[in-house]
Amino acid sequence: MLQDRINELREERHAIVLAHNYQIGEVQDIADYKGDSLGLSQKAAESDADVIVFCGVDFMAESAAILCPDKTVLLPELSAKCPMAAMITAESLCAEKEKHPGAVVVCYVNTTADVKAESDICCTSSNAIKVVNSLEEDEIIFVPDKNLALYVAAYTDKKIIPWEGYCPSHHFILKSEVLSVKARRPEAEILVHPECGPEVIEIADKALSTDGMIQYAKKSKAEEFIIGTETGILYRLRKENPDKRFYPASDHAICPGMKVNTLDKIVSALENMEHKIIIPEGVRVRAKQALDRMLGVGRGD
Ligand code: 13P
Ligand code: SF4
Repeated sequence: MLQDRINELREERHAIVLAHNYQIGEVQDIADYKGDSLGLSQKAAESDADVIVFCGVDFMAESAAILCPDKTVLLPELSAKCPMAAMITAESLCAEKEKHPGAVVVCYVNTTADVKAESDICCTSSNAIKVVNSLEEDEIIFVPDKNLALYVAAYTDKKIIPWEGYCPSHHFILKSEVLSVKARRPEAEILVHPECGPEVIEIADKALSTDGMIQYAKKSKAEEFIIGTETGILYRLRKENPDKRFYPASDHAICPGMKVNTLDKIVSALENMEHKIIIPEGVRVRAKQALDRMLGVGRGD
């Protein structure tokens, strides 16, 4: 059994497996910890394991490697990439900074280490509003998600300068799709991720990070929910709330990069100690400042 082999290797290597809430069910089931981007970064930072097998996408594993230079961080499958993180480079960010010399840079954690190194502070979907409002400066270059930037702008007096990036899995969830599920499930509460477009956030009951949705669904008195985020989260929501019902806002909200990690790839990652995430030390140290500053702000939902 692959699960038994993972358990053997986990012990042998003194390793932990971290899995994002969008991972396939069998990967979530063997994880030591499941969570959102912020929760996974916090877990990585506080873990005393020697090896972290990161079942998520590239930028998440990079964040763990930035925070934990003394640990080996493994990404089981190198094609696990976030297309939004590829929508900005350190060079293009530096050019934007030159245009706004008085502004600070808040970068969504969905960015490369190079971009984090050019940023003042990171944020995740859980704490983006809290991070922005924690800053003294009034002008903020917010990269790379324009939808998250617009969402934050509604909850702050600060001037937000958005970047033109977006998440294809969330940006293309249509308001009409959500409304048609709502017409069939009128009692259901609508929970969406702030990476969705403004017209979808506007018709939602709540905009939450993935862990925010997990916590909210557990506590809410509602019995039915329409979930506007990557469909992988439905596995955990249904498993942890067997008496409640969860419907995807859109069946095409699938992130290909989140689906490539499998149990055999975790076995092979631990057997061969690959693929190691290596960040050049100069970049790592500067990127860590932006991540540490965010971790100091903590959760916002
Ligand atoms: P969370 O931090 O809310 O899990 O979001 C990560 C992500 O990539 C959403 O698409
Ligand atoms: Fe990136 Fe979107 Fe996938 Fe999240 S769901 S990892 S933002 S592409």
